[in-house]
Amino acid sequence: MHPHILRRPHTALAAFLSLGSVTVAQENGGSGYSIQRNMSYDKFWEHFNFYSGPDPTEGHVQYLPKEKAFDLQLAANYDDTGSVYLGADSMNSDPKGRESVRVEGNFNLNQGLLIADIAHMPTNECGSWPAFWLLGQEEWPKGGEIDILEGVNDLDRNAVTLHTSEKCIVDNSTSGDPNASPNGNTQDLSFSGHLATKDCDVNAADQGKNVGCSIKALPGNYNLTFPDLNSNFTVENITRPPGGNPPTYGANYNYNVGGAWATEILSKSITTWFIPFPDTEKINWESPDISTFGKPIAKFTSTECDFEQRFKDMRIIFNIAFCGQWAGKEWESGGCAAKTGVGSCNDYVSKYPEKFRESYFEIYDMYWYEKGGNGNSTMPAPSGSQSSALSSTQTTGAPQMEATQPGAVPTGPPASESSSSSSVSSSSSAAPGSPSFEPQPQPQPQRRRRSLVHSSGRTYKW
Ligand SMILES: *[C@@H]1O[C@H](CO)[C@@H](O)[C@H](O)[C@H]1NC(C)=O
Ligand SMILES: *[C@@H]1O[C@H](CO)[C@@H](O)[C@H](O)[C@H]1NC(C)=O
Ligand SMILES: *[C@@H]1O[C@H](CO)[C@@H](O)[C@H](O)[C@H]1NC(C)=O
Ligand SMILES: *[C@@H]1O[C@H](CO)[C@@H](O)[C@H](O)[C@H]1NC(C)=O
Ligand SMILES: *[C@@H]1O[C@H](CO)[C@@H](O)[C@H](O)[C@H]1NC(C)=O
Ligand SMILES: *[C@@H]1O[C@H](CO)[C@@H](O)[C@H](O)[C@H]1NC(C)=O
Repeated sequence: MHPHILRRPHTALAAFLSLGSVTVAQENGGSGYSIQRNMSYDKFWEHFNFYSGPDPTEGHVQYLPKEKAFDLQLAANYDDTGSVYLGADSMNSDPKGRESVRVEGNFNLNQGLLIADIAHMPTNECGSWPAFWLLGQEEWPKGGEIDILEGVNDLDRNAVTLHTSEKCIVDNSTSGDPNASPNGNTQDLSFSGHLATKDCDVNAADQGKNVGCSIKALPGNYNLTFPDLNSNFTVENITRPPGGNPPTYGANYNYNVGGAWATEILSKSITTWFIPFPDTEKINWESPDISTFGKPIAKFTSTECDFEQRFKDMRIIFNIAFCGQWAGKEWESGGCAAKTGVGSCNDYVSKYPEKFRESYFEIYDMYWYEKGGNGNSTMPAPSGSQSSALSSTQTTGAPQMEATQPGAVPTGPPASESSSSSSVSSSSSAAPGSPSFEPQPQPQPQRRRRSLVHSSGRTYKW
């Protein structure tokens, strides 16, 4: 149905690093960013807690504690491609809501750069509300919220959104006109998205409640061209039209194997780039250079808003919600009632598990960077949290979040959940040298990728 997912396994990065490229990258300039947190592959879990309380946004969802999520393989690693899987159940009908995951980072982000290479996201199926977002530690909205990748129902493009309190109106510098930029700053502030709302205050009088300031990506207008799967090919053989707008959300995003979301938080701006696959292959993960990322989708600037003050001590959240205060609220107005023929979002989500087979994130490289670091790439950063070996039990430092869902009303703080880790691995690689399709190992119905180990030894997944 969809073309293949094809990503470089982490071993490739390891090989690259062992050639001594670490220092070269920094000598070459880059953006001066160095790795503070490595959240890729098996290192993902030591940076996240599983939240298993009731959904703060009243969704029709049951967030599983860590052990159960791992047991049901709604949280897992793919060992062959070195990626992270976070998904929702697609087997069972449960009137209490769909089983799913919500993971919350256990360390604070301030100024710096976050990059997550997300090859697959939950599809834009009616009823779903997936998000990759950042939430401040102070009471919402004072602590700030940055929604990097989020949407509901059958939307087909992403919007990057900020939520804060009053007096934070952002500039509309879509034109890149220097006169439109604050304080005589003549740098080109342009971004490719469309500023839909400009007041980041969730209570702004002339905007809908909790809307915040939001920049919508342009509609995707291309699909990648893939070479013949039976031929020998490399990533260079996969082409995309120059200048096109990549799909940024839903099924078309996945068809195009997604891409990397890079978000830079500075005192004067918050910027999000989307680097579509296969351009992701060119990212220097050790020392990323933002000047190579092209035009950002979204760039928030403002004369009156100190972004560093308003968006501080942010924690990363990935969650897959259903219905609730956004997807559910727009069930009828957004057209899903008519489209599905089911009058209630909760009914649809409960009764049609198979519709949610594609409701999962697959995350490849993911790092948090800060400037002027010392290249402490494998060391946990010291900033206000504990992180430890894979099998650790989190006892302190768990996020006490004023939980909100992106764009929604907070309804009360959840209890944080943590439990011991049990890494699940997929060991589904065939022996190199013999192209073969592999059946899905059981029981892991959510993870239905097929793998083709090519004669060249490279593994392809889709
Ligand atoms: C990050 O962690 C992954 C998974 O353990 C590892 O494969 C990769 O080499 C690490 N990256 C760096 C730059 O050390
Ligand atoms: C920002 O500018 C663009 C281009 O002129 C316009 O289409 C859009 O409506 C503006 N957004 C706001 C919130 O004013
Ligand atoms: C891309 O492929 C998807 C899936 O086949 C299709 O629905 C969509 O219309 C295609 N988009 C373009 C721009 O061709
Ligand atoms: C892949 O690209 C290389 C270099 O451009 C070319 O020689 C080769 O024929 C291509 N292979 C396929 C299967 O298209
Ligand atoms: C990494 O950081 C620690 C503590 O901040 C420091 O002692 C150590 O020298 C650093 N390592 C490197 C390779 O810079
Ligand atoms: C693919 O490449 C491998 C290694 O270079 C080679 O042995 C094999 O014959 C090639 N297969 C095809 C179909 O070209």
